[in-house]
Amino acid sequence: MTEPVLDVHLTPEDAAVALRAEARAGLTARPKWVSPKWFYDAVGSDLFEEITRLPEYYPTRAEREILVARAAEIAALTDARALVELGSGSSEKTRLLLSALRNHGTLTEFVPLDVSPSALTEAAKAIMADYPGLRVHGVVGDFTEHLGLLPGSPPRVVAFLGGTIGNLIPEERDKFFSSVREVLSTGEWLLLGTDLVKDPEVLVRAYDDAQGVTAEFNRNVLRVMNRELDADFDPDDFAHVALWNAEEEWIEMRLRAVRPVKAHVAALDLDVEFAEGEELRTEVSAKFRREGVERELTAAGFTLHRWWTDSEGRFALSLARAIP
Ligand code: SAH
Ligand code: AVI
Repeated sequence: MTEPVLDVHLTPEDAAVALRAEARAGLTARPKWVSPKWFYDAVGSDLFEEITRLPEYYPTRAEREILVARAAEIAALTDARALVELGSGSSEKTRLLLSALRNHGTLTEFVPLDVSPSALTEAAKAIMADYPGLRVHGVVGDFTEHLGLLPGSPPRVVAFLGGTIGNLIPEERDKFFSSVREVLSTGEWLLLGTDLVKDPEVLVRAYDDAQGVTAEFNRNVLRVMNRELDADFDPDDFAHVALWNAEEEWIEMRLRAVRPVKAHVAALDLDVEFAEGEELRTEVSAKFRREGVERELTAAGFTLHRWWTDSEGRFALSLARAIP
């Protein structure tokens, strides 16, 4: 089988440099933090896929329900020739869009972009095998940095699914929406998945599952730092914490030191200490309301064209159009 075309805008060396800079900033800050994009090495990407199948983790199923119902309508509204997908991961749900656009007769190209080379390569190969004739042009890159370099001919739909937008903090979101608007021509489309505000108990359960898969996903960031930064964190020294921040309307994931911890990060020549109970913030996962999504899209130069939710109103898919 022919290999998919892959543009690498983020080499392993670039990623290593970025991780070093971020880890130094985050591990020396108070409170300590690390960016969620470092969860997704090959193990972390597989753990995320396992999360999507957990009974407690409803967002993937809810978004799939919307896509099943609306993919044909999306194809008819957009006439897209290229589907660009940011943070594409396994691109499993994306197949619903690819099939609808292919049936509609307009699709020629699929451009998945992800920071995780393993997830991207696997997904690109599987899609090439299942969609003969479709040009698959993968991009290894960071969606907060490399949007200006995206291939694909108009009219394009940029899909950002799964609620990954919620993993950016508000300032990062504003910047992200503006850069997507900048690369699109007037009339092109953004298809955005957002998880919605709901009962905090349901939310916390989705991020603290009974089987402990999310806890392993969370601790994986320590394993990534051990391997990439020659650090010596013991994942067993940290408990998984998921809590609802009602003021910010986001779930926070943290790793809490269960005893005093001293670790050495050799690549940074840095000693890191945690007091017992001290936490490292690893992720926020913001939950949205329609007004907020519409406000942020409008501020960036989009108009909200369609807003669809699943039958239980847990998750929303927005189709937004770039306006002059
Ligand atoms: N879209 C898929 C996967 C969501 S998981 C779904 O809906 O199920 C989030 C994905 O975003 C992962 O594959 C991860 O590797 C990728 N990701 C996280 N931060 C990123 C960044 N800054 N740039 C590019 N990809 C990123
Ligand atoms: C990728 N992203 C939308 C997931 C989320 O729900 O915020 C990542 C995740 N974190 C814990 N579980 C899943």
